[in-house]
Amino acid sequence: MAELSIRIGELELKNPVILASGTCGPELAKFTELKKIGAIITKSVTLDPMLGNLPPRTVEVCGGMLNSIGLENPGVHQFINQKLPEWLALGIPVIASVAGKTKDEYVEAIERFESTEVSGFEINVSCPNVKGVEFGKDPDALLELTREIKRVTKKPVIIKLSPNVSDIQAVALAAEQGGADAISLINTIYGLKIDLTDRTSILGNITGGLSGPCIKPVALYYVYKASEVCKIPIIGIGGITNTPDALEFLVIGASAVEIGTWNFVNPNVGVEIADGIENYCSQNRIKDIKELIGSRRF
Ligand code: DHB
Repeated sequence: MAELSIRIGELELKNPVILASGTCGPELAKFTELKKIGAIITKSVTLDPMLGNLPPRTVEVCGGMLNSIGLENPGVHQFINQKLPEWLALGIPVIASVAGKTKDEYVEAIERFESTEVSGFEINVSCPNVKGVEFGKDPDALLELTREIKRVTKKPVIIKLSPNVSDIQAVALAAEQGGADAISLINTIYGLKIDLTDRTSILGNITGGLSGPCIKPVALYYVYKASEVCKIPIIGIGGITNTPDALEFLVIGASAVEIGTWNFVNPNVGVEIADGIENYCSQNRIKDIKELIGSRRF
């Protein structure tokens, strides 16, 4: 059996398959063997509760979906007391996704999580649906935010990057220079869909974030560009639906992958991909997944 474990800072995952923020939760345990998954990421949690955006909040489009949830969540205090125990009971590493409008909001939420059993943090600096300081778009602000976060936690910190930027390498490098243990990309791409009966936008918030198979080539491009400049591990996200999709990200330079939208289509997809990567390795005499990571020949 091939060695599939990978490291993100001090955190070791038994395989490189992670379930993406906002697309999974303890309810998935009814449909799939979550123990076979490398790690699971919570929906983004903010310091204070958020009600989210006006409905409709989701709509299907060709090859994917748009969503504009607006970061609805019960706030860090209630999340830790009422929701987190169920997540931790799954028996796999739980990574807390944290979002905020200001540096202090991120820092305070992370401080609250620090004494819990979460295994690490994914910092959402790239929500397409909530106005505020957009840390993911400004390399200087992102470097400073990452530094402040690293100052208050010993757990691994993953910075989740937005594709909605003009220079992905500048933001990727800022996260690395700020001390991030890894970056993950891409978050959703701005999009919208028109209702032709009344010529309005379908989503209550007008615009949303595009995800699903249609964004995979874009995601691969961004992972490729980030891999040219970053030394820290990269987690690839965007449109992964099967094992070959995941392998493409690993070959291009990602150390792990996140599965998002496809969990809604096939809640067993993460397990199928974890098994599929293992089979691919044995069939190709790959002893360690590290032989595959970044093995592109260009
Ligand atoms: C939301 C947040 C995201 O980071 C994203 O990619 C899509 C939607 C949200 O809560 O609206």
